[in-house]
Amino acid sequence: MHENDQPDSRTAPSVFERVVPQNLLDFMNASIDDARDRWWPRDGRRASPTAHNFASLLRGLDAFDAAETQACQSARRWASTMLGKECGGEPICMLRCVDVGSPSQSYLRHFDSHILTLLIPLQLAASGERSGDLIMYRQPRRSVSAMSNVITKARLFLEHGMPVIARRALLMRDLERGLCERIACTPGNVYAFNGFVTMHGNLDVASGERRTLIIHYYDPGRTVGLRVITRTMRAFRDRLADL
Ligand SMILES: [Fe+2]
Repeated sequence: MHENDQPDSRTAPSVFERVVPQNLLDFMNASIDDARDRWWPRDGRRASPTAHNFASLLRGLDAFDAAETQACQSARRWASTMLGKECGGEPICMLRCVDVGSPSQSYLRHFDSHILTLLIPLQLAASGERSGDLIMYRQPRRSVSAMSNVITKARLFLEHGMPVIARRALLMRDLERGLCERIACTPGNVYAFNGFVTMHGNLDVASGERRTLIIHYYDPGRTVGLRVITRTMRAFRDRLADL
């Protein structure tokens, strides 16, 4: 296992290599295939019992326990130092499954509400320019105050309402300028980063399906109710799209 030391003090993710064995990846992907009709969400990234079951399976692995413990300790230290608060609570688990039929879920630059994100790729899409790869900005945001967080989230929420082609242009412009980098993930590895200060998003998928288990830890509660508003508006937008 190779581990970078501080997942939360810089924008590059910490990488824990060869944590999830292939037979467990195969089991998870087969479970998704079997259960899709029962839980398949419109946006491909909703919290689900399936995701929580997968996280429980991972916690039976010594390598995952070690990675999770190290990442969580580091994240709590960051919260104590930077936010002056102790963080706890249960993590949120979700599955994000994106294929060529879900381009609207790509190029959505955002910050997470939670301090620590563990990203576990289960299956990659076909390689190429449109592989669904993770894009991470190099510089963390400087201000983490509640007000700046709300303003930033509101601005990005409006950006998410733009057409995909416009959002793609913004992200590709920043890639060309070197403001962000493309992270080519490998199934079996675990990627840890501080999504609360690191803006990130994903490319779209041209062929195949990209599946990722995502676990969020430690919500510092700096949204001042905005999350409820954005979730409500997103659900309303989804319902309009279903009409
Ligand atoms: Fe995120």
